[in-house]
Amino acid sequence: MSRIVIVSNRTPSKTVAAGGLAVALRKTLATRDGFWFGWSGRHAEKPSSEAMFESIDGLQVGSIDLNREDFQAYYAGFSNSILWPAFHLRLDLATFEGHWYEGYRRVNAQFARALVPHLKPDDIIWVHDYHLIPLATELRALGARNRIGFYLHIPFPTTDALYAIPHHQELMRDLSRYNLVGMQANRDVAAFTEFAEHQAPPTLSGNPVKTADFSKTQVTAFPIGSDPDAFAKLATSPAAVRMIKRMERAMNGQALILGVDRLDYSKGLPQRVEAYEKLLANNAALRRQVHLLQVAPPSRDSIKEYKETSDTLDAMCGKVMGHFAEPDWQPLTYVKRAYGQPSLAGLYRMARIGLVTPLRDGMNLVAHEYVASQDPQNPGVLVLSRFAGAAEIFDAALLVNPFDTDETAEAMRLALIMPLEERKARWQALFDAAKTYSVDNWAALYLDALSATKGGKRKGP
Ligand code: G6P
Repeated sequence: MSRIVIVSNRTPSKTVAAGGLAVALRKTLATRDGFWFGWSGRHAEKPSSEAMFESIDGLQVGSIDLNREDFQAYYAGFSNSILWPAFHLRLDLATFEGHWYEGYRRVNAQFARALVPHLKPDDIIWVHDYHLIPLATELRALGARNRIGFYLHIPFPTTDALYAIPHHQELMRDLSRYNLVGMQANRDVAAFTEFAEHQAPPTLSGNPVKTADFSKTQVTAFPIGSDPDAFAKLATSPAAVRMIKRMERAMNGQALILGVDRLDYSKGLPQRVEAYEKLLANNAALRRQVHLLQVAPPSRDSIKEYKETSDTLDAMCGKVMGHFAEPDWQPLTYVKRAYGQPSLAGLYRMARIGLVTPLRDGMNLVAHEYVASQDPQNPGVLVLSRFAGAAEIFDAALLVNPFDTDETAEAMRLALIMPLEERKARWQALFDAAKTYSVDNWAALYLDALSATKGGKRKGP
């Protein structure tokens, strides 16, 4: 059986507990052989294309150090200041500097140079996420004729947003060098198809634009998931039970409304706090009966727009506190740090409402983990944004438009008064969907589809 080579910007680490993706892919690698490849997390003065290999919990991981300036241009610059905002339809937050694109391509070329010496001809290569769109082009330029697949973990943008990205045509040609492009949701495949059919925006010069040929690239939705059985187990583990006990004491009978998100502007955190403010303003009887806990570990904090989101949230939480808190009651708790999975599973299980309201999101695994952690005899309610990929499979949630904070406030109110029978029925449907779309099934389906593609892609444009 062919080996599997996984490539992503971040690699599994010795110090950070493995997330669902790493756990699932580790299982895949255990049965298929292969290795994981990516950035070491370290900076080096001189960029080197010599990969270092080590074994992390039985998983072979190859990595390279990146020069600090290249990394800035590739990661904070092109990946996270233009691709991330544009793919999430936040062109107002996108910024661009020409040298970022050069750094982005340089790092992708460096990844390819470091990877090629370790490849066998029939290895199957699976590249992850927007940091590495050009990798297939760079690998093919070095002669790799392997099957190469790409998976986009974030949403695919609408055609207009894509046009706004400098060098988008090169990026789309890069995508056409893959045998398989996997996306999270049908809406992403639809947006891609819309672009592929029209491609070039009108140019000032009228010169024909070299378009991408997708005739040999399969583009399909493979919604990612979690490991629901493992999360369900974790939610009754001693560490989770300790967290539940702690929270029961602190909540003292109040209903917990919980949000868990990286501190990112795509997550709709200010809108969420505004919706909560409206819930309290419009329903005086709920004050002292509910508590919002927002867990928001800081993310990408070298980027200005992330700092601003953090400041906005500080101000909004302060405003709600000032307005509604009493000497002996606080309406919300806002925690800017990360928690381990067992503690999170406890918090999820304790929460009467899982509030997952991103403005736009590839999938959103918090929604999956919240569902998996519930007590089947007394489950909480998932309030979910229509604009998360998860909405396509979780139609038994209370689906909201996160821009409409009145609607989100009303969904919270309905969730708080929802009868047990309805909560159970909705939860059962959600849990069934979480199992159908588990991360194990996702990896198996994707790799089967990639193995079934015709290999040997051409080098040319
Ligand atoms: C999203 C992206 C991932 C990324 C993660 C954390 O889920 O799809 O590729 O790794 O955010 O962001 P960071 O910039 O810290 O890697």
